[in-house]
Amino acid sequence: MEKTLAILKPDCVRKRLVGAVAARIEEAGFAICGMRMLLLSQRDAEAFYQVHQSRPFFAELVRFMTSGPVVVMALERENAVAGFRALIGATDPAEAAEGTVRRDFADSKGENIVHGSDSVANGQREISFFFATRDLNERILLPQP
Ligand code: RTP
Ligand code: MG
Repeated sequence: MEKTLAILKPDCVRKRLVGAVAARIEEAGFAICGMRMLLLSQRDAEAFYQVHQSRPFFAELVRFMTSGPVVVMALERENAVAGFRALIGATDPAEAAEGTVRRDFADSKGENIVHGSDSVANGQREISFFFATRDLNERILLPQP
């Protein structure tokens, strides 16, 4: 089954929206097969967002992502990567479709509540950044509610 990585970002935790966002994730049919709260170090945030290192917003992004605890989730569903990005909406909440997580909860393009992997390969790479294989429950989808 396809997997994707979600990060509930520091603004999500600060605004006490972890439960609300997790509920949307589960209501959209995702199984949470790994979940952990942690504080990203500067080094981890730089490594995780390495692909953006030459972008003008990189320093701001790293500062934000290390500004408080995050919740990382390994999620499983059919078409998980594209389905999760549809659930969260466009990067900028002003451009995100109605009913999406970012449209409903995010304040700005930088502080946008949640991260979702952008490809199946990146999803696998990002899940292994945070989770050991033995920490992922592979049997949650059986049986489905
Ligand atoms: P994410 O990786 O967090 O799921 O977001 P995304 O794919 O929708 O957007 P991406 O282009 O990968 O950008 C990663 C994160 O960098 C911050 N950002 N700030 N100020 C800006 O112009 C700007 N652009 C991007 C956002 O936190 C974005 O989610
Ligand atoms: Mg991205």
